[in-house]
Amino acid sequence: MQYRHLGRSGLRVSTLSLGSWVTYHNQVDAAQAVEMLAAAYDAGVNFFDNAEAYALGKSEEIMGAALRKLGWPRLNYIVSTKFFWGLDRSVPAERAVNRRDTLNRKYLMQAIDGSLARFGLEHIDLVYCHRPDPATPIEETVRAMNDMIVAGKALYWGTSEWPAEAIHAAWHAADRHGWHKPLMEQPQYHLFHRKRVEEEYALLYRDLGLGLTTWSPLASGLLSGKYRAGIPNDSRGAMENMAFLREGLTNPERNAAVGLLAPIAADLGGSLAQLAIAWAARNPNVSTVITGASNVVQVQANLGAMELVAKLTPEVLARIDAATLTLAD
Ligand SMILES: NC(=O)c1ccc[n+]([C@@H]2O[C@H](COP(=O)([O-])OP(=O)(O)OC[C@H]3O[C@@H](n4cnc5c(N)ncnc54)[C@H](OP(=O)(O)O)[C@@H]3O)[C@@H](O)[C@H]2O)c1
Repeated sequence: MQYRHLGRSGLRVSTLSLGSWVTYHNQVDAAQAVEMLAAAYDAGVNFFDNAEAYALGKSEEIMGAALRKLGWPRLNYIVSTKFFWGLDRSVPAERAVNRRDTLNRKYLMQAIDGSLARFGLEHIDLVYCHRPDPATPIEETVRAMNDMIVAGKALYWGTSEWPAEAIHAAWHAADRHGWHKPLMEQPQYHLFHRKRVEEEYALLYRDLGLGLTTWSPLASGLLSGKYRAGIPNDSRGAMENMAFLREGLTNPERNAAVGLLAPIAADLGGSLAQLAIAWAARNPNVSTVITGASNVVQVQANLGAMELVAKLTPEVLARIDAATLTLAD
């Protein structure tokens, strides 16, 4: 494993990390979570990603229980969560004090307490605003995130899928008021989804010291090659609550492009999944690539991607681009 600073901070994150979206509670129980977290940690992974919304809080509970079982020193691992959609469904959205999708102060200050309770932790290392909320003044959100940190409930904060100009506005609001600034963004980044990371955010790395914790390096599994002959029964694409992904996962042009990547991966001595993960990790603006896995075999196989990063020479990258660039957004 290699380690990189999370943006312009002193915190070192493992170049590959592990997330729990879709998997925890739906595919992975607490015992399997222990096994998967242990396999990742043994390979040098120090960052485990989560969110309030994942399995409506159950994902945080499972990770918290697994961490208690594993008993690692708290200094040696980084845990995240993210806030935006909320969990309370007891009143209709139009009546709710907190609209379902909000970054207002009332929601955020309650959300952090809920996450701490579900994890059973005294603080969460990284907290994210899971999506932008144009309906809440930026100062209100930034101050609430600052206050979580001042209260010792969180250590660093950032954004996920925010437009560059909103990140810029948040950073400058914090700068003006002497509040903790957003340190990292969590964007989607893979061979078929590049522009935001490579173009839209380009100045933020240099000007704001923004770090990136990128998600879905396999485009939900598409880049592993498993959807080239249809949807396997035991895959994410077959899950009822993931039906919205099916059209993308079975896209014929993208699956044909994945076929073109197969000999490139073979030439480098790796798998398609390892090639795709290594490709995301080769970008120096990426602090960590958050991988996903539904079992421990995938965890171990995907971490092998580190061995391919140094093999991605300009010539190899040009071959990869020739197969995928025109299909990327
Ligand atoms: N901030 C955000 O809005 C956001 C959004 C999405 C994700 N995330 C974070 O990013 C993490 C990673 O995202 P992701 O899970 O979408 O990552 P991904 O790497 O694109 O997809 C992971 C899925 O692909 C399949 N897979 C993984 N390795 C494989 C292999 N070697 N061979 C075949 N299939 C393989 C597994 O699903 P099956 O085995 O079930 O097919 C696995 O759950 C999430 O857990 C979450 O923490 C954040």
